[in-house]
Amino acid sequence: MVKKVFIVGATGRVGSQAALDLAERGVEVYAGGRALDRLPKHENITPIALDLAQASVNELAEKFQGMDSILFTAGSRGKDLLRIDAFGAVKAMQAAEKSGVNRFVLLSSMYVLQPEKWQEEPLKSADLEEFNIAKFFADHYLMDSTNLNYTILQPTGLTETPYTGKITTEYTNTTQYKNSIPDVAMTLAEIILHPEWTSRRVIMMTGGDTPIIEAIAQ
Ligand SMILES: NC(=O)c1ccc[n+]([C@@H]2O[C@H](COP(=O)([O-])OP(=O)(O)OC[C@H]3O[C@@H](n4cnc5c(N)ncnc54)[C@H](OP(=O)(O)O)[C@@H]3O)[C@@H](O)[C@H]2O)c1
Repeated sequence: MVKKVFIVGATGRVGSQAALDLAERGVEVYAGGRALDRLPKHENITPIALDLAQASVNELAEKFQGMDSILFTAGSRGKDLLRIDAFGAVKAMQAAEKSGVNRFVLLSSMYVLQPEKWQEEPLKSADLEEFNIAKFFADHYLMDSTNLNYTILQPTGLTETPYTGKITTEYTNTTQYKNSIPDVAMTLAEIILHPEWTSRRVIMMTGGDTPIIEAIAQ
């Protein structure tokens, strides 16, 4: 039973919605962010000051004590890719291990683990190579250099469109390379709530026709 979840990046578009979705499901959410006033408000959400650029692994490990899962949704929007998107994620993973939290869910991105796809559409035109490289190392560190029980979610482009509750976990030639932020947030919440289906998996996602819960159970 997942009772306590720490979210790194809880002021973000995805992180804040995932915090609310989990809080609504009765999870105690510890919402980490730099600006406490921008963290989502809910009776089940506890705000925690956290600057990933400054925090040491030991400081992060103290904050993670007693959690059932860590959800990492932070990112620098291309401004500090090494320090936040890559090494910030690695520090959070090391801190999870240090504090005895075994479960780690990482928000990643489309084809991060397939560099051969980066020069093909739709990524070719998106100018995302440095972002993809940073995330490549974060994803690989989680899978290859930790013993954490991980799930990596790799959505396509994030859009500020309404919740649909339906996704697909394949990218095909007919796929639209877009998913709504509330759908990505709810998919992360369901992944957190269902380790029995999602442990040690890399899950691709984009907008689709399958209810989220069915899609991640496959
Ligand atoms: N954009 C896309 O189309 C796309 C597609 C696929 C995957 N993704 C992935 O999804 C992630 C989340 O997207 P989003 O739209 O929710 O991003 P966002 O709104 O920019 O949120 C990023 C979060 O990271 C936090 N952060 C940045 N630097 C930090 C620091 N030094 N210490 C602590 N927190 C820090 C931000 O905190 P502040 O509020 O304090 O800045 C914010 O909470 C992206 O980073 C990317 O990895 C994005």
